[in-house]
Amino acid sequence: MAIERTFSIIKPDATRRNLTGGINAKIEAAGLRIVAQKRVKWGQEQAEAFYGVHRERPFFKDLVTFMTSGPIIVQVLEGDNAVAKYREVMGATNPANAAPGTIRKEFAESIEANSVHGSDSADNAKIEISQNFSAFEIVG
Ligand code: CMP
Repeated sequence: MAIERTFSIIKPDATRRNLTGGINAKIEAAGLRIVAQKRVKWGQEQAEAFYGVHRERPFFKDLVTFMTSGPIIVQVLEGDNAVAKYREVMGATNPANAAPGTIRKEFAESIEANSVHGSDSADNAKIEISQNFSAFEIVG
């Protein structure tokens, strides 16, 4: 399988509850390497730009409010089949539907405050990584 990179966010509900280490432990246990990581706080413009694809969805305004409500950890994860693998490790978007052992089953509070984001395709991973990191910040 090809070595791939994906983009990850540890969301404000998780940083608020001091879960960064617990989530990173699950990422690393799955064989993914954290090759870039920083703690930031997004403003409205950054959150709206990142989630622009959801602009017309009914949850968009609340999502932007939530994503700007506290610090987040943005990450680049690297490994075999990283995009699909991280989506498995995260579990379903709605924690009520997430499989046992996944990050969202264990940690998420709701479909909105669902602790983590991961890219949904290799193409989007490239876009999301370049929106959040410069090349010299990523050390494989
Ligand atoms: P994420 O994978 O970051 O992508 C879009 C986010 O919107 C999602 O996780 C949730 O945090 C949030 N969201 C809120 N309500 C919904 C919903 N009904 N369906 C999908 N995503 C939602």
